This record gives sequence, C-alpha cells and structure tokens, in this order.
Amino acid sequence: MTKQIYSGATPKQVRQALQPLVDFQQDGMPIAELQQLINQTLMPHLMSYDDPAFQSMFNAFPPAEARLGAEIMLNTNQGVTNWQVSPGGAMLEEMAGKALCNLFGLADTADCTFMYSGTYANQQAIYLAIHRYAEQMGVDFVNGGLAAFPDPSRLVVLVSADAHFSMRHAVRMLGLGEQNLVKIPVDSARRLDLAALKSILSELDGKKEVVCAVATSGTTSTGAVDRIRPMADMLPGNIWFHIDGAYGYAYKLVPECAHLFDGDELADSITWDPHKQLGAPIPNSVLFCKDGEDFGRMSLYSGYFNREEDTEPNPGLKSPPTTRPMSALPLVTILKGKGLQTITEELASPVRAMRQTAEWLQTQPGFEVCHMPDTGILCFVCQKPGLSADELSKFQRFLYDKVMQTGERSISTTTLDGSTVLRFAVVKPETKFEHLKASIEAIRQISLDSAQ
Ligand SMILES: Cc1ncc(COP(=O)(O)O)c(C=O)c1O
Repeated sequence: MTKQIYSGATPKQVRQALQPLVDFQQDGMPIAELQQLINQTLMPHLMSYDDPAFQSMFNAFPPAEARLGAEIMLNTNQGVTNWQVSPGGAMLEEMAGKALCNLFGLADTADCTFMYSGTYANQQAIYLAIHRYAEQMGVDFVNGGLAAFPDPSRLVVLVSADAHFSMRHAVRMLGLGEQNLVKIPVDSARRLDLAALKSILSELDGKKEVVCAVATSGTTSTGAVDRIRPMADMLPGNIWFHIDGAYGYAYKLVPECAHLFDGDELADSITWDPHKQLGAPIPNSVLFCKDGEDFGRMSLYSGYFNREEDTEPNPGLKSPPTTRPMSALPLVTILKGKGLQTITEELASPVRAMRQTAEWLQTQPGFEVCHMPDTGILCFVCQKPGLSADELSKFQRFLYDKVMQTGERSISTTTLDGSTVLRFAVVKPETKFEHLKASIEAIRQISLDSAQ
C-alpha cells in the first residue's frame, strides 16, 4: 500500500473524529490518556510536511535544531517585549535581528523586528510608508489618521497583479481601501512588468499620490521574483519601497539565486518568513528596515515598561504586539545548529528540482508549463483536447481533487490570468525531481482514466 501523507478524510469525517477532543468535562484527563486521545483523533488528519510527496505549500516541519530552541521557548514561555520581562530574551531578539541584517548583506543602519506573520509584516511596512509620507507632507497622521491628509483618496500603493493577498488585507485594515491598491500587470515571466509600471506612474502623476511601491520577491502563485533594481530606479525618491520576500527572500542566501535580489539594499523594508523554508516554528516572520530608525514610528511608550527613558533593549518598541514570543531562539538554533553551508544547500535543492521538472515537463505530451521557475514553484496545465478554457480550468480542479482524495500526495492549484492551473510548491530538500515526476505520472494516469 502506498504511504499516506494525511488521512484523505472529508471535513465531515474530521469533524466527527475531533468531537471527543473538544467535549470538555468537569473532570480532567491524565496526560497519557490525553496524548492517546490526540493520537487517535487528531494526528491522522495532520499533514506530513516532511514527506517528499508534500508538494503544495510553504509549510515545513521544524528540524531538530529548531526543536531545541522551540522547546526552551515553550518551557520558559518568555514574553520578550522588554528587558524587565526577559532580559535574555529581549537582548537575543535585538542581537539576532542585527545578525540577520548582516547575513542578508543589508546596510549597517538596517534593523529588523520579529512578527507573527508575513501578513502583519507587510501591513506594518505599508503603515510605515504612510507615516513617513505624512511627515514629508507636514500631515499629522499620528493624531488625525488618514483624515488628516487633504485628500486621503489620492493615496495609493503599487503592487504587481500577482502580489499576495496580504496586501489587500493591509490596505483594508489601514483604511486606504482596495480601490487604492493599484495592480501593475505582470510580464511573460510573471514578474512585475516594468514598462507597465512606467506608464502607470506617469498616468498617476498629478492625480494620485504613491506612498508605497511593493516588489514581490517570490510570488505565492509562481515564485517569480520581481526585478528590484530597475523598479527602484523608476520610483520617485519619496516613495517607500517595500519588498515582500515572505516566501522568496530566503533564496538570496543561495549563490545561484542571489542575482535575482540585486538591488534589495535599495528597499526601505523587506518581509521574510523563516517559518517557511527554514521550518522555524510558527510564528516566525521578520520585517527588516534599511534604516533601523524607521521603527521609531512604531514606538509607543508606557509608564510601566517600554519607557521612553529606558536604555535597555525593548523589542516591543519596533512592532506590536506587547506580549511577543521568543521566536528568535528557534531561528538562532536552526542557523547556528545547521550552519550556513547546509542551510544554503537545503534551500537550493527544491529550486534545482523544480527547474529540472520544468525542463522535463516541457518535453511531455499533454502538459503545458506556464512559466520557467525562478524559485521552488512551478505551475502547469494538464491538457485535454476539445475543452473550452472554462472546461480546462474545471478539469485542473478535478485532477487536483482526485490527487488529494488519495491522501498519498499533496499538490495545489492557483489562478493565472483567470484560469485554474496545477501548482507544485516545494520548500524542503526531501522532495526531489523523481518525487515531482511521480506526481506528474499520477496526474497523467487520472487524466487517462477520466477519458475512459
Ligand atoms: C509572497 C507572500 N507574502 C505574504 C505572505 C503571508 O505570509 P504569512 O503566511 O506569514 O502571513 C505569503 C504567504 O505565503 C506570501 O507567499
């Protein structure tokens, strides 16, 4: 029998299985029994991210090195907002942040903050952009909010059409509204189209005020890395330039991919998610700022801690929330324990596997490759003659459902230019070309069976 990477159960079956776990009683349960209950009810339905057949998303199991840090984090439950609650934890976050800036070759002035997710890091970047723009315009945004701008409806944020939906969350939550999120078309490599950016910038000139432009370094759909330097060169100097590298920025550490990130030193801020490729236990996201002083716009002081006069490190002055986990520790134990050479090799592995798969797939009748991979993601279509575009989309969804129902492998779908396509996304070295090829063969078989 083929190995399952999860149960393959339906939502109804999972709900039934989990019911005893949430049936709270007056009496407690011994830990051993509780463990057994969890083993029976929940565990079969969790996904094995470490299995080579998990080829769909950015999740990864924590390596042993991460477990060491995570266990200490759990056992000590340190909140690291400030020196008083955890001197070691607060200092570690400060020092790890600086070490990460060095690791990525950022400016000496750069700094970073740990966050709960890339989504919040992106949101904070856009907040900082508006805040700085307000200062440049002499607007009291801190007290007056968006209403303090002469015409808040003029403020826009530029992203590529393939940018992550967290940008939509950000403009909604910051009160700009989605109509002020301007989407720049992508080119044939699915990177932000620079010619389109140029013409949109001149169209907006005098009509709108661009407060922030975002390059995605590794889009969620295709892994494409927007060209950073030419984009930065096109932007007027007062615009905050953010890189959403939640997924892709890790590949800057891989020598054969580093050129894709040329110009990152020009960005005002960069989002990166160590909880993706590195398997750092969630939450583990980072927001870098080229000028660490920019985090001052986040600082709120109180009389009991994070006091303005404090000289000790208070990480909670750079980002919310007040109670923050010691996320730096598992990331430190991963980097220190594995060493940079192993980290780099492990990061390179899925990128190479995906390139090999793309090249091979191009030779396979019945399949169409949607793009050549910049990173560890590949989108493709399984063709079926005689289908309309809409039917072909539905066919991809049918293939995906069939694959997932087996519980033997996990692939994904995404939408490109309105059409559904199949998608591999791999972040770990265990998944090789042969495993991706096996998935293609499984898809081919389902397609053949469906024709009979
Ligand atoms: C490009 C990109 N940006 C932002 C995010 C959101 O990050 P998070 O899931 O940590 O909130 C993702 C998540 O996959 C992403 O791929």
